[in-house]
Amino acid sequence: MSDTYLSIENMWKAYGDTKVLHSVSLDVQKGEFLALLGPSGCGKTTLLRMISGLLQPNGGMLKLNGKTITDVPANRRGIGLVFQNYALFPHMSVAENVGYGLRMRKVAKTEIAANVKEALDLVKLTHLGERMPSELSGGQQQRVALARALAIKPQLLLLDEPLSNLDAVLRTSVRAELLELHNRTGLTTIMVTHDQAEAMTLADRIVVLNNGHVLQHDAPQAIYEQPQHAFVSTFVGSPPASLLEVTRRVDGGYRLEDTNWDAGSHLSQKLAEIKRRKYHLGLRPEELSFSAEGALASLPCAIRTVEYLGAERLVHVDVGTQKLIVRLGRSDTLPSTPGHIYLQTLPPIFDTEDGRRLG
Ligand SMILES: Nc1ncnc2c1ncn2[C@@H]1O[C@H](COP(=O)(O)OP(=O)(O)O)[C@@H](O)[C@H]1O
Ligand SMILES: [Mg+2]
Repeated sequence: MSDTYLSIENMWKAYGDTKVLHSVSLDVQKGEFLALLGPSGCGKTTLLRMISGLLQPNGGMLKLNGKTITDVPANRRGIGLVFQNYALFPHMSVAENVGYGLRMRKVAKTEIAANVKEALDLVKLTHLGERMPSELSGGQQQRVALARALAIKPQLLLLDEPLSNLDAVLRTSVRAELLELHNRTGLTTIMVTHDQAEAMTLADRIVVLNNGHVLQHDAPQAIYEQPQHAFVSTFVGSPPASLLEVTRRVDGGYRLEDTNWDAGSHLSQKLAEIKRRKYHLGLRPEELSFSAEGALASLPCAIRTVEYLGAERLVHVDVGTQKLIVRLGRSDTLPSTPGHIYLQTLPPIFDTEDGRRLG
């Protein structure tokens, strides 16, 4: 694409014989907010640190704003990084912390003072410059770390799990502030998170990582509605999709373990187009119901438990030996003796071996 700002080509990393990141290639557009989303240990921090220059990749290329920076040292890349634990210097005041990167770069004192003030204003800490980090709340320390990254006027801002050390209430408000800050500064930003809701609400595009592999790189809506990998559908959503294993019978029909099941013509036709012995259907709680109206397939079920959450209820059901969740809205009723749940739309179908989307 013409306005690619950061480009990562075939970057990989191994520790000894263990590959923790497999040949990652990505493009980030100018002004974009990109989220790197995946479970703990999947390689998010490793990728972020290689972009920042703090960690050397085993191979690959990095281009920022038209220049190859693969061999440029971290402090010359013009990249601001906020660490997961903030990593503030405890013996320096807030203002000294924020000005640290500028002093290292031998910027003139008057300019440092101006940049520090501007950065503290941006994160709404204007009056706390003289405090020590130990005199601040967790949320305030996080803003100091953010101001320190902003003070160098970075070309690119990298955030490693910026909200994970905050309590649940603070997290939601700081999330909104981060979005506001991004809209105000227009800074190209890459944020690492294991929290799918954070990625969905903040990012223009999301990169889903698992086991050091990029599984999908898409806008939040596409990640949610068009998962290209079984892992993506079972990681995104609250609660996420469940996988249901379906087996093809020798007579050409389809089978769910431990049930008497008729796949229904729509679903059978779709499965028949994809010639496999086994399939995984990705079933989202909100796409299942107890209402037969307009359904294109049904599944036999037995209810296990019902979780009441106010605006919704989550009904946990057994389908033969497998488990699914059905979401009911406020006005949906739970039948007294439900024997079936219904699919209103054709679900995504995944390979049971490698998780790739089929068909
Ligand atoms: N210095 C290191 N030496 C050996 N293994 C490491 C080192 N740093 C990270 N790893 C391993 O690399 C994998 C990815 O780590 P990391 O990028 O920190 O994951 P994430 O940030 O997604 O939780 C993990 O399995 C981790 O144990
Ligand atoms: Mg990490």
